[in-house]
Amino acid sequence: MNVQQLEETAQALVAEDKGLLAMDESNPTCNKRFAQLGIPQTVDARRAYRELIVTTPRLGECIGGAILYDETIRQQKSDGTPFIKVLIEAGIIPGIKVDQGAKSLAGFPGEKVTEGLDGLRDRLAEYSRLGARFAKWRAVITISEGVPSRGCIAANAQALARYAALCQQAGLVPVVEPEVLMDGDHTLDRCFEVTEEVLREVFFQLYSQRVALEGMILKPNMVVPGLSCLHQESVDEVADATVKCLLRTVPAAVPAIAFLSGGQSAELASARLNAMNLRFTSRLPWALAFSFARAIQQPALELWKGHEANVPAAKQALFHRARCNQAARRGEYSAAMETR
Ligand code: 13P
Repeated sequence: MNVQQLEETAQALVAEDKGLLAMDESNPTCNKRFAQLGIPQTVDARRAYRELIVTTPRLGECIGGAILYDETIRQQKSDGTPFIKVLIEAGIIPGIKVDQGAKSLAGFPGEKVTEGLDGLRDRLAEYSRLGARFAKWRAVITISEGVPSRGCIAANAQALARYAALCQQAGLVPVVEPEVLMDGDHTLDRCFEVTEEVLREVFFQLYSQRVALEGMILKPNMVVPGLSCLHQESVDEVADATVKCLLRTVPAAVPAIAFLSGGQSAELASARLNAMNLRFTSRLPWALAFSFARAIQQPALELWKGHEANVPAAKQALFHRARCNQAARRGEYSAAMETR
């Protein structure tokens, strides 16, 4: 294992206040988002949408890495240029989602475990040959009455650690994503408690599996109240709680933390990331970056709606969100950026 190389890749992904663009929706998830906007759920439409994303001008100024999906990593622009090549030429490092989705956890009603370890070694070797330099695996933790259980947290954390170890052996930087979902009416305090427990277990398992922390990126949720919780804390309160939780649980050897957006609005995700960087920068041992899917893509997708004529406006919207989040990394984002 070449830790130095992994470390360099991890650093490059978030250099110059850049972040990651998650464009790794599985076909069912991508189709669901398309269906909501009346876009045909076909291979062609998915390919055209991903072409729109990877050919967005100047994207590489704000995005250091893009996470692809198995279908997408094999696709090309309409002129035949592979997406991987387009990304590399734009200065964006290609990555790949390698988990095979969250499935019901036997014996734990209402809880899930992420599958995909079987055959992973071979898949990683193939993705590396195709040009991927980092990978992503998402574990899903639900909050509800008596949930999450210890068993669910342990099973997911161990799978994340086994995945991360295999990635590093294959020369890919693992993006380790334990997502505590926002669904529900739980409070911010409850999200804090669960996120802390999950992250402690994840780092214990990463240590047990001999994962080099210097050569990975953590992709956690922010500490937020449930979507249907009546009391929604302010941007600063969310920033404070999130940083407090991460300072307790994430070793300083980890080079970067890149948040998922998890269903927050695009503006709120930028504002919260901005507040964390503005209020805590000098105290943080790791870079606080982003790895958003919806919070970068959704406005662009809503403008595109599957029509060629809307491509320029959608590209502009995508670049705008990427730029807002880069500004948030510097603590320079403000609501005024949205009206320009
Ligand atoms: P969201 O930012 O839409 O939560 O997606 C991030 C991601 O990669 C989910 O696995």
